Order: sequence, then C-alpha cells, then structure tokens
Amino acid sequence: MRPKLESHLLARRKRLLGPAYSLFYRDPLHVVRGEGVWLYDADGRQYLDMYNNVPHVGHCHPKVVEAIARQSSRLNTHTRYLHELVLDYAERLTATLPDGLDVAMFSCTGTEANELALRIARAVTGGAGFVVTDCSYHGNSQAVSEITTEYSTPDTLPRHVVAVPAPDVYRGRYRGEDAAERYASHVSAAIETLRSRGIEPAALVLDTIMSSDGVVAVPPGYLTRAVAAIRAAGGLFIADEVQPGFARTGERFWGFELDDVTPDIVTMGKPMGNGYPVAATVTRSEFAEAFARHSRYFNTFGGNPVAAAAGLAVLDVIEAEGLQQNAREIGRHLSAGLEGLAGRHERLGDVRGAGLFIAAELVEDRESRTPATKYADQVVEALRQEGVLANTIGRHDNILKLRPPMVISRQNADMFLAILARVLSAL
Ligand SMILES: Cc1ncc(COP(=O)(O)O)c(C=O)c1O
Repeated sequence: MRPKLESHLLARRKRLLGPAYSLFYRDPLHVVRGEGVWLYDADGRQYLDMYNNVPHVGHCHPKVVEAIARQSSRLNTHTRYLHELVLDYAERLTATLPDGLDVAMFSCTGTEANELALRIARAVTGGAGFVVTDCSYHGNSQAVSEITTEYSTPDTLPRHVVAVPAPDVYRGRYRGEDAAERYASHVSAAIETLRSRGIEPAALVLDTIMSSDGVVAVPPGYLTRAVAAIRAAGGLFIADEVQPGFARTGERFWGFELDDVTPDIVTMGKPMGNGYPVAATVTRSEFAEAFARHSRYFNTFGGNPVAAAAGLAVLDVIEAEGLQQNAREIGRHLSAGLEGLAGRHERLGDVRGAGLFIAAELVEDRESRTPATKYADQVVEALRQEGVLANTIGRHDNILKLRPPMVISRQNADMFLAILARVLSAL
C-alpha cells in the first residue's frame, strides 16, 4: 500500500468530481490493470474479481481489445452514415432474441436504453404510468431515476410510478406455493392505483434477475402472470436485461427466459462491449414504427463502428469460448460450494441465483432472518484484505453479490470458496 498516493487521489477526486460520486471500500481500491478474472492495484497486488460484470468475457480480453483497436484505426464516426458493422451487429443481437424482437436501437448506457424504452412504451400505448419493483435500479436520467425505487419510499415516488414488492420467497411476505400468483396480483393492484390517479399504464419494467432487489429467487410463473396483467391493461412489458443478459444466468441467454414470456421491449448494456460503452433497446418493428411516427432518434455515439466491433467481438468470444456453458457449470459449482458453507455457517442464511449471478444472504440468525448488514460489510472488507473483490446488495445491504467475469475457472471458484470459508470462520 502507498497510503500517500491513495489519499492524494481521494482528495483530488473529491475536489474535481464533487461529493455525489461514491466509491467501494473503506480504503478505496486503486486499480491499474486487469486481465481475465484478475485486477491489479498500483502496488501490483492481485485481486480475484468476483464482482464485475462489465468485463463480461474477462478484463481486457485480447479479441475485444483487438477488434476495438482495429476499428478505431480505420474509422469511428457519429452514426448518421451508412456502415455495415452496426447492421451486422443488429442482426447477430436480434438472432439471440425471440422472433418478432427484430429492431435494435443503439445507445451508450443502460440508462439511455431504458429512457428510450419508456418513450417507446408511451408512444405505443398512449399511457404514461409505470409499474416497477420496490428496490429496483434502472439508471440515472431524470425519467429513469423516477422508476428507480432503490433510493425512494412509496410516498416519494412520482404519481405515474407505482412500486410492487419484488417476488422474494426468502424474506418477502409470500413464501408458499401460491407466491407467484400473490406477488403478481400486486401488478394488477398497481395498475388500479395508477388508474385511480387518472393515469393509464404504459409498461411494467422489470430487471429480470431483480439484482438491486437482492437477486430474489423469482418463483416460476411470476413473470407470466405479471406480464399478462400489464398486457390486459394495455401496457407493455420492458425486460431490463442490463444485468442478467448475455448468457450470465447459464441456462439461458436472457433473464426473461425464466418463464415462457416474450417481452415487448428488451434493454441491455453493461456487458455488451466488455467495457466499451454499448447499449441497446430492442423491440418489435411495429413498435419502432409507432415511436417513429411521434419522434426521431439520434445518438451521436450509440452503435458507432467501434461500438459495433466491440459488441460483435463479445458475442464471438461468448460462443468461441463456450462461456454460457462455463456460466452454467462454474455457477453450479460455486452455488454448491456456498450451500456447503451455509451448512457450517449459521449466518449464511440463503444462497440463490442463476449461473454466474449468485447471491448469498447474510442474517443474524436463521430463525429471525434479521439482515446482518454490518456483518456483510465486514465480510466484504475482509474478502478484500484477502484479495477477493465482492460487494453487497438489497434494501438492507446484507446480501453478498457474486457476479464474476464469465471466464472464471473451477480453480478460481475453489480459491474464492476457500477464502470465504476462512473469512466466515474468522469473523
Ligand atoms: C438493471 C439495471 N438497469 C440499468 C442500469 C443503468 O445502466 P448504466 O449505468 O449503464 O446507465 C443498471 C446499472 O447498474 C442496472 O443495474
């Protein structure tokens, strides 16, 4: 550690970027290099990255780096000229989605992708209201932060947004066999609430892995019922795939494939360009046409030639390296290892998730399930001291979020499990 350099950077950052930004860890990490599942700090110390999904196919994957460099050295412009790459990319991307979802509109961030989805939903339905889960994160623009409930309470939401409980069968109010039905009934109730305010619903917006809600184990049948409710009211279903998309959940390429539903709009971002800013809003051609009757769309950087090259390279690597299968296999191995630890550590209350998106919920005791917020923070800090990067999520910040680059090996997973076992025994 070089505390002088780190505290100097911290002071500069505060002065130059202002106080609204946040950082991870009590002693923020100063990383200077990444490779595969590894990050390196300024002193050359290696960290096993169990947290980052943006470097989806591994930090600085040579194939993606090469594709970005090659295209950057040839041409990078705004998006108002003809270019093949963005079309090739749109073709490849929509081929991963169900039939009918065949128009891709590009942007640079998940926020922008969701912002456009909200506008399309309003243009198509004529409605203005949105239904979301009650600890969601969808982005940082004005309109999208209004449907982000992570930092709000029901009474601070704007009139056109109604939050429903995330279908949490571990901590939530319904845990029995009828949980899917009972949670979905809140979507119908939310639509009625909007109507009682004179607002018609435009869409139900769900992060299909419910990441900020705590990677809750969505009961089978919930999505089908919730989507049926919004459609019966004339609204659309927007699947926010910014977190689960691109094969992370192992069994499936997209999170919404949990149930037999086809979204009306799918939004995506984070992992698409392995760090190069790429995002997209994919929808049906008739919805794209309805939107175009009201509005034009221009995004200076969204889907430029380098973005398309990065996105294509990521899809190539997922395929060539069998990363969906890796997510399935290593995800299972990690989850089984965590279950084993839960057998020995009372405070590891629940292990859940899909593929390489795993949550481990920390509780004071199994009986009360009281969230162990402080303990979770201590675990995260201790893991960092041991050279492993993780973090917490959920309303109570007591859920360990494990979401490593998709190239994680069995050996890496075993190393993580051994370190976590040591940390849990020591604390
Ligand atoms: C589910 C979800 N949607 C949207 C976003 C916003 O993406 P971005 O930060 O690229 O704007 C995030 C970011 O964390 C997210 O988790």
